[in-house]
Amino acid sequence: MFTVQHHEKVGSTNDEARRLAEQGAPHGTVVHADEQIAGRGRLARAWYSPPGNLYLSILLRLDMALARLPELSLLTAVAVADTVDALLPPRTRAALKWPNDVLVDGGKIAGILVEHVHDATIIGVGLNVLHAPHNVAYKTSTIVGSKGMASVDTARDLLLARLQAHLAVWQTDGFGPIRDAWVARAHPIGTPLRAAMGNHIAEGLFAGIDPDGALLLDTPEGRKRVVAGDIAPIT
Ligand code: BTN
Repeated sequence: MFTVQHHEKVGSTNDEARRLAEQGAPHGTVVHADEQIAGRGRLARAWYSPPGNLYLSILLRLDMALARLPELSLLTAVAVADTVDALLPPRTRAALKWPNDVLVDGGKIAGILVEHVHDATIIGVGLNVLHAPHNVAYKTSTIVGSKGMASVDTARDLLLARLQAHLAVWQTDGFGPIRDAWVARAHPIGTPLRAAMGNHIAEGLFAGIDPDGALLLDTPEGRKRVVAGDIAPIT
């Protein structure tokens, strides 16, 4: 299903995939780069992208409503978490933090950036195999630092296989099974969370994910849906 285009160095694999989408590249086109010099993260942040990690963007042409984009983002997080588990020693398990951070030992090991351009969906994934950024406000982790296998190509192939499997489930059975797999890797229901949405902060107890992929928080004012922002457990 996937055709991989490999580059030594690009600005951003998401930008490269966007360019290919504009030129009519087919469903399943994958851009993989050893290094990015303008890697992008969520909320217009830069993504640290030296050689030694996985940087990948997958172009999908799906007949779906734009409102379903968050489902794909959570689906990708589950596929990345499966991949991380397969690369780490037995019984080490990746956890998920909404919307799509993949964590090992509480440190962010991967990031996901889903974009929609010219009737195509682009799923960008960065996975810290050898290196993690310094000078960031959050804890980080890497595959190698977690005693895992240091092969970027193995990571890429595992990820594409897991994505293909979860996409097939999503297309036949809908978002339900993906949502269950996501929630099984997240903090337990009832965990106190703080959601930062721009200048607005909401605090409440984690109540799961709704059928559209929004985070549910039980706050003193009632149940709130969080559709964008940063989440942190309240300690
Ligand atoms: C995040 O902020 O957590 C998302 C990071 C996404 C990074 C990946 S690396 C491959 C692809 N190309 C980019 O420029 N960004 C994504």
